[in-house]
Amino acid sequence: MGKSRRTQVCIVGSGPAGLLLSQLLHRQGIESVILERRDRAYVEGRIRAGVLEQGTVDLLREAGVADRLDREGLVHDGFEIAGNGRRHRIALDELTNGKVVTVYGQTEVTKDLIAARLAAGGEIVFEAADVTPNAFDGSKPFVTYSHQGQEHRLDCDFIAGCDGFHGVCRQSLPQNAIRTFERTYPFAWLGILAKAAPAADELIYAHHDRGFALCSMRSESISRHYVQCSPNEDLSKWPDARIWDELRHRIGDTDGHHINEGPLLDKSITPMRSFVAEPMRHGSLFLAGDAAHIVPPTGAKGLNLAVSDIYYLYRALVQFYKQSMSDLLDRYSDQALARVWKAERFSWWMTSLLHKFPNEAGYDRAFENRMQEAEIAYLMSSRAAQTVVAENYVGLPF
Ligand code: APR
Ligand code: PHB
Repeated sequence: MGKSRRTQVCIVGSGPAGLLLSQLLHRQGIESVILERRDRAYVEGRIRAGVLEQGTVDLLREAGVADRLDREGLVHDGFEIAGNGRRHRIALDELTNGKVVTVYGQTEVTKDLIAARLAAGGEIVFEAADVTPNAFDGSKPFVTYSHQGQEHRLDCDFIAGCDGFHGVCRQSLPQNAIRTFERTYPFAWLGILAKAAPAADELIYAHHDRGFALCSMRSESISRHYVQCSPNEDLSKWPDARIWDELRHRIGDTDGHHINEGPLLDKSITPMRSFVAEPMRHGSLFLAGDAAHIVPPTGAKGLNLAVSDIYYLYRALVQFYKQSMSDLLDRYSDQALARVWKAERFSWWMTSLLHKFPNEAGYDRAFENRMQEAEIAYLMSSRAAQTVVAENYVGLPF
């Protein structure tokens, strides 16, 4: 065995969950080391969603990483739903006593967090290979990994599994220790990032016979758009012109909305899945973010849910180190899961409401299609229904 050392919390994964936890702990004088499989450029280059709930913005401020977010983030107090040939605005602030969301790319959140960790002397081991959590049944866990050809051992009090859906931490748990719940959807999103002005001032979610579409943005000159496609779609069948054409069809091009074309900076496919692993703790190993749950991107809850997990875990670790108490650690999984399931419900509902479900063999979805239309019509006509959407979209409290 090569080098051996010790830290308080070993964090696996430098996505938003792991980075935010490390940064928050640092500000309370609690030490951590992050082990990340990929290199820094890869982590900072991943294009993901970009709608931050108020609670997410508040916690990023508390972590001291919100300067650029406060300067560049776009505050949105509403968004539009288009369907049945109509468009309706959900007035987030009016329906929720003034709550809003902020449009700011997750990629930028990640860059800000990495810069802050490194500036404060924090340790992120990029390109850590064969990361393996050990002895987490007891109170003396350790993590082994190799880096630049050398074996390492990191002893710690706790392991935070922030290593995403395909990470090693959840997979290291004994099979009978967790129960998983999963749903895959019979469609995916083809997403583009384009150097073009957004289609409108606010996001537009569209239900259309040709499939769902979403017009979003990253700035006044960068658009982020999505169109529903099949889950095993071949990207080569989607030349740029076809994507713009589909967006125009599905979103419509009328007063106040115009699909502005521009060169593409990114084009990729996002699969759609709902997934939850219970519980989110085993001994001294705690799962957070995508390592424990996935939501389909409709409603942009993925990053926000990772952040609320970190809020609960951070508070619990601070209580442990500062007050020598572990009741918050004991309640972590139940508390986090209570909020996770509500966000799972909302993401599943919004996905089901807005997408075109393909007919299954021998089954015509005519009835379900009418139900979808009726639900959209109800939503557009009922303030009560809109309040439910707005309350969830801006984020449930944590
Ligand atoms: N060893 C070390 N690191 C790993 C391993 C491993 N075996 N497996 C995965 N990782 C790293 C990944 O490379 C990634 O950088 O863990 C990190 C997990 O980050 P994310 O996938 O971004 O997950 P999370 O931090 O929970 O953020 C959730 O990101 O994926 C989106 O939709 C999701 O918006 C949500 C948010
Ligand atoms: C995005 O801007 O990438 C985005 C916005 C809203 C969503 C999902 C993704 O629901």
